[in-house]
Amino acid sequence: MKFIKVENYEKLSRIAASIIASQVTVKPCSVLGLATGSSPLGAYARLAQMCSDGDVDFSEVISVNLDEYVGLDGTNDQSYRYFMDTNLFSKINIKPENTSVPNGCAKDLKAECERYDALIESLGGIDLQLLGIGLDGHIGFNEPDSVFTKETHEVVLDESTIEANARFFASIDDVPKTAVTMGMGAIMKARKVLLIANGKGKRDIVEKAFFGPITPAVPASILQLHPDLTVIYSEN
Ligand code: F6R
Repeated sequence: MKFIKVENYEKLSRIAASIIASQVTVKPCSVLGLATGSSPLGAYARLAQMCSDGDVDFSEVISVNLDEYVGLDGTNDQSYRYFMDTNLFSKINIKPENTSVPNGCAKDLKAECERYDALIESLGGIDLQLLGIGLDGHIGFNEPDSVFTKETHEVVLDESTIEANARFFASIDDVPKTAVTMGMGAIMKARKVLLIANGKGKRDIVEKAFFGPITPAVPASILQLHPDLTVIYSEN
């Protein structure tokens, strides 16, 4: 594991963007596993700038997102599809048909989860997986549990996750209670993993996840076993 501590969010975002841009430059048809939430916003803005400056080309990139709320379709401004379209895909030259987010409105969610895993498999797996980390140690929406779940699956969100994400919704009651998330199998099989975390509030969970015991009670701790993991943390 490479653990990089930087002075601020701006620097974290610049380093994260340059790691992603290097991946795409070295392998233009990279499969990128992408995350939503506030952590990647700076890196996404930087990648958009690099793309408009002609310094990185996403025209052959394929993306698969980690997760989606159940019941929100892509036109809902709180959906993760909407987030990705707004904050990244519309600002870079990725082909819309090369972007995938789990469908949280699928009638048969089990079939949707199987379709998503088959899709990732058919792409040959993920080259670079970008992750944030939840205050309870979740990655994607893999919440603390007694086991690590391998496949894409439906999850009931923890109360702490609902509270943390309420800041994006009009009221806490509007936060969906369930989501579909990529499982630990596809994340751990990614050839590179890049996790970014910022803020003093994330210090304890970062410490537990990367310097504590490996346990499904702290889902991100499994990443300690990944052969090519980079963690970038800034306290400010
Ligand atoms: C989002 C995701 C989540 C977030 C995590 C941290 O796609 O997979 O695991 O990365 O909840 O969220 P922020 O970055 O908002 O602190």
